[in-house]
Amino acid sequence: MSDWFRLQNEAEVPSPSVLIFPERVEENLRRMIRLAGGVDRLRPHVKTHKLAEVLALELKHGITKFKTATIAETELCARAGAPDVLLAYPLVGPNIGRFLRMMAHFPATTFRAVGDDSASLKALGAAAAAAGLTVEVLLDLNVGMNRTGVTPDEAAVELYRQILATPGLLPGGLHAYDGHLHQRSREERAVAAQAAFAPVWELEKQLRSLGWPVPRVVASGTPTLPLLAQRPGVELGAGTTVFWDFGQAETCPDLDFLEAAVLLTRVISRPTPERITLDLGHKAVASEMPAPRVRLFGLEDATFVMHSEEHLVLESPRAAQFPVGTVVYGIPRHVCPTIALHQEVQVVRSGRASEAWPVIARARRIEF
Ligand SMILES: Cc1ncc(COP(=O)(O)O)c(C=O)c1O
Repeated sequence: MSDWFRLQNEAEVPSPSVLIFPERVEENLRRMIRLAGGVDRLRPHVKTHKLAEVLALELKHGITKFKTATIAETELCARAGAPDVLLAYPLVGPNIGRFLRMMAHFPATTFRAVGDDSASLKALGAAAAAAGLTVEVLLDLNVGMNRTGVTPDEAAVELYRQILATPGLLPGGLHAYDGHLHQRSREERAVAAQAAFAPVWELEKQLRSLGWPVPRVVASGTPTLPLLAQRPGVELGAGTTVFWDFGQAETCPDLDFLEAAVLLTRVISRPTPERITLDLGHKAVASEMPAPRVRLFGLEDATFVMHSEEHLVLESPRAAQFPVGTVVYGIPRHVCPTIALHQEVQVVRSGRASEAWPVIARARRIEF
């Protein structure tokens, strides 16, 4: 259906809004499970949606393990009854205490953390032991993104030894995020992934040969999901797949997911005969990526002119067909930060926006 995104009740929906299509979300979950080779292999990232209702859908499809980037996302998972949550973000400063208080408050959820720094691990262990808690820590590895993590070499073995020896900590295995691997060709991506992960598999082997427990290896974003799925046992941490966006569609032409998050915007001004100004500024669509930040249905040929806080200005020889008030729909280039810009999303059922879901974990702090 070409106009699958168009609402029957669009006149009732304020702009700018994000529309979520739950049936498409569920289809994406089924495809994720299939691609991963089983529901137990998945540890989807919550950062993409930050929504209790999507967590509920994931739980309904049998997903029990989740990955998060903030304390608030982690707490949202616990509130939703998620059995297992990995906060894949280094804990430092007061966030150590916040994490431990959350652990104590939600005993039914198993919380896991990552670490890559000796002093931070020491601080986490001391605080956990003082609170009478034990935190399972995955050693965070740098596989080439150079954002966080230690290189999988002898220093990594020493840090793992430290986790083993620290009261209040338990060794939880390895975490390696490969966000730098986004070659368009699946073959080239596979070669790069093989090279990036060979030292991880070596390290895993070495730790096991020392008799140390390595309960899990967590790896992969969306582009490497089908590649790392071929390695038995690895947990797969894709995020974007739940909603899809045109950035990932461009990066991964080999993957087949449905667009399930759509932006609804309106023409608010026509300042010159060629210009169309939409209420889709960079406070409504993520703009850390190059223009275009949104692919607008029916305006694919328009040229990007200007993007300010609440305005998106385009030029098109067909601008006259878009009078002020026209509703325009589009797919964001990067859906995850786009969702975080919105207080709520509009949920579409049978062609109608019928309900709003609050984007609870866009907050930095929820606290129980
Ligand atoms: C640590 C970590 N894991 C997993 C993901 C999910 O990757 P993707 O957005 O490619 O699905 C991200 C994305 O930023 C991430 O930072």
